[in-house]
Amino acid sequence: MDGKNVTTGTVTLTDNTSGKSREFPVLGGTSGPRVIDIRKLYAETGMFTFDPGFVATASCRSTITYIDGDEGILLYRGYPIEELAEKSDFMEVAYLLLYGELPSAKQKEQFFHDITYHTMVHEQLASFYRGFRRDAHPMAVLCGVVGALSAFYHDSTDIHDPHQRMVASYRLIAKMPTIAAMAYKYNLGQPFVYPKNSLHYAENFLHMCFAVPCEEVKVNPVLARAMDRIFILHADHEQNASTSTVRLAGSSGANPFACIAAGIASLWGPAHGGANEAVLKMLAQIGSRDHIPEFLRRVKTHQDHTMLMGFGHRVYKHYDPRAHVLRQSCHEVLDELGIKNEPLLDLAMELERIALQDDYFVSRKLYPNVDFYSGIILRAMGFPTSLFTVLFAIARTVGWVAQWNESIEDPDSKIGRPRQLFIGSAPRHYVAVEKRGS
Ligand code: SDX
Repeated sequence: MDGKNVTTGTVTLTDNTSGKSREFPVLGGTSGPRVIDIRKLYAETGMFTFDPGFVATASCRSTITYIDGDEGILLYRGYPIEELAEKSDFMEVAYLLLYGELPSAKQKEQFFHDITYHTMVHEQLASFYRGFRRDAHPMAVLCGVVGALSAFYHDSTDIHDPHQRMVASYRLIAKMPTIAAMAYKYNLGQPFVYPKNSLHYAENFLHMCFAVPCEEVKVNPVLARAMDRIFILHADHEQNASTSTVRLAGSSGANPFACIAAGIASLWGPAHGGANEAVLKMLAQIGSRDHIPEFLRRVKTHQDHTMLMGFGHRVYKHYDPRAHVLRQSCHEVLDELGIKNEPLLDLAMELERIALQDDYFVSRKLYPNVDFYSGIILRAMGFPTSLFTVLFAIARTVGWVAQWNESIEDPDSKIGRPRQLFIGSAPRHYVAVEKRGS
């Protein structure tokens, strides 16, 4: 039933004021909760639904990613995330997310070749960076530069042409590491390092970040594999805030570069992708194990809006499966780097242990999410905290473009235009300023 939904029954809604009842179809997908199709609700009843934060709203049909939040299951096109993280690689996962199936050996080679040959950016884009302050947050730079891509690649902005859509998708996937590495280098005051076609995706990214023109750098394969795995784990996550932003921006017919820039802006927030940076700041602020109880007291009493960053999730009411893989990966990376004792990892694990025994977190089903451990690995690899969300954005670009393509191809797609429950002033007449009182 992949790609379809079926009507599995009806729901009858009764308006207790008028006494009128109406039936609405109930649709079932391949997995997950059934949905009430309320598209005719307003036309038939004159009422809207009210669902701030979309806690009970399916905004679209999708065939890409499935999450079972109660069981802690995440599938890309049906494949468990743990299997992909262990056995696959990011390029293969990107192909899977874009096209729906794992590639054959030939398709994989061709895809990797095509992505590789789009990694360079227009040379004039380099001058664009110079308009930013050196100490600008790299996410600010990423938003600006990705938004600017539509000014450079005019030949891939016709959203009705499937070929142009795919060219734009490849360009975004291919150029994002280059743009991100340039943001990092600009911040450091070092020269930009060009992409190298002989390197794999994650390896190439690490090379662009850590090489300098005066010295050869050989990327450690264990770290390249860890980076690749981080990209796999972050590649897509169904209708999260940034993906929904991309879909909403795309629903107006905006070009793909503008839509992805919108997604980057949404990802930046600390409640979303910005949490990986916030986790490291939080751990630094806690400082040591004996400060954990006092920190958790502040979280539980909502003192100064303190949250346990990297914990909680709208969908997972169980351990985020990505956090499991990342926790394991943390140990591998630290071992490889010969770091015997990483105080931040010890602190994070102790924080997790105490929180998972605390009734506040247990009763609310708050578990570590993808952002809890990723920052510790990235820091050990040599990235500054300000770059963490940028790395998330590189990986998520694949999910964004896959979801954007899907939404454009969906014959039921419409411009996103929610309604509201208006609670402002009733109609009134303009009063001249001299008659308004003091
Ligand atoms: C990502 O959606 C996705 O798929 C996102 C993502 C992806 O891959 O795209 O998985 C990536 O964004 C991960 C989440 C990163 N954010 C954080 O780690 C920030 C901390 N987490 C919270 O801000 C929060 O848990 C959210 C934003 C992730 C989820 O918010 P919800 O679903 O709106 O939950 P809620 O705010 O209604 O919380 C329910 C209760 C509340 O308590 P009560 O009012 O019922 O007493 O749990 C409490 C919240 O105050 N709560 C927390 C908490 N998270 C929720 N309390 C303390 N610390 C927390 N982290």
